Amino acid sequence: MDKGFLTFHRSAERHAWYLRGMDPVFDPVIKAWIISDPGCCERLLTSPDTRPATYSDDYAALEKRLGIDFSNVLLAFLHIPMCLHEEAHRKARRRVAAHLAARKSDLSDSMSKSLAAHLQPLRQEGELEIISQVLLPLVLGVTEPLTDVPPAVAAQCRTVSTIFDKSIGPRKRQRIDAELGLMRAAIVGKLDPDASEDEVGLRLALAVLGRDTLIGTIGASLYSILSANRGRRLNEIIYPEMPPETGVPYIERIAIHAFSDQRTRFNAGDRLRIYFQAFAYSESALDQSKIFGVGNHLCMGKALSLDLWREMTSALGKIPLYADVVSHEWRTDDYVFLCPSHLNVRLHA
Ligand code: HEM
Repeated sequence: MDKGFLTFHRSAERHAWYLRGMDPVFDPVIKAWIISDPGCCERLLTSPDTRPATYSDDYAALEKRLGIDFSNVLLAFLHIPMCLHEEAHRKARRRVAAHLAARKSDLSDSMSKSLAAHLQPLRQEGELEIISQVLLPLVLGVTEPLTDVPPAVAAQCRTVSTIFDKSIGPRKRQRIDAELGLMRAAIVGKLDPDASEDEVGLRLALAVLGRDTLIGTIGASLYSILSANRGRRLNEIIYPEMPPETGVPYIERIAIHAFSDQRTRFNAGDRLRIYFQAFAYSESALDQSKIFGVGNHLCMGKALSLDLWREMTSALGKIPLYADVVSHEWRTDDYVFLCPSHLNVRLHA
């Protein structure tokens, strides 16, 4: 906590801190309320008095002010349901639901093929960097039927998930736009020439949403499980049904108008930073499942993410090797996701 709430979600003391059960506090540095009690998080996520942050409006204003083209970022934001409100949100959600249903069997095939190909390095003795050598190719392979972005192209686009980061400068924003442009071109190349902008935007949105959410959640959870099970082989570990860490530590909502929640009064326009980590670290299994959100904005990739977690931990549970953590570091180039930059393990008999 020494460094404040900007990096709180990746501090070593975070687990103990959540157990204190705090009322909302206003952080003057990030200029947002910090909501870290599970009950309060749930009330505010489902409250009619809050709405998602205004990402596309902010980028449209920035584009005007700086005279920089952010058309790829804007296309993505206009299709990411968790950044949209009311009718625009309902429309985007319906579009994602239809796409997920249409790609169901392709997703199941890509999951089996990607697991077979990319978990192989975990079955051999030696040193392995799990994030780049296992999780990145695995996640890009699994989600390809949703995004239509070839994994080789997606792998070059490292910063797209930082699209949600409000504390970055124009150069980094331009880099994100350029990477999204690369993915957009790949998607356009794959679709029929008469495909609509919505079909392209939908895939771009899923390429953003289905990447560091999965790499972060699975990477951080594996780090936590391997560290807690030193001295046990992979096939001796009992893996939890729900990942113990979440790559999505929080989300922000805006107070639509002044309102009170129990002892706290919020003003119109206040930013509320609502921590999903409060659910992850709760002792209640019901709370833990809320790392995928609650209410209108419930994660649409929940079933896919839990399938991948189950398949992956079931495969690990058959490997008779020790996996000692040799080194681990959190990614520090964004303040949005909890994601290891690397997780080196030594696999041995
Ligand atoms: C373990 C991995 C994942 C975690 C922890 C996660 C977490 C979340 C959370 C907490 C929300 C709610 C945000 C809010 O309340 O505003 C959300 C929304 C969403 N997620 Fe995920 N997610 C994961 C993976 C995925 C994947 C793989 C996809 C699809 C490829 C996906 C698609 C979505 C969509 C479309 C929404 C927006 C729902 C809406 O606003 O109506 N997620 N996710």
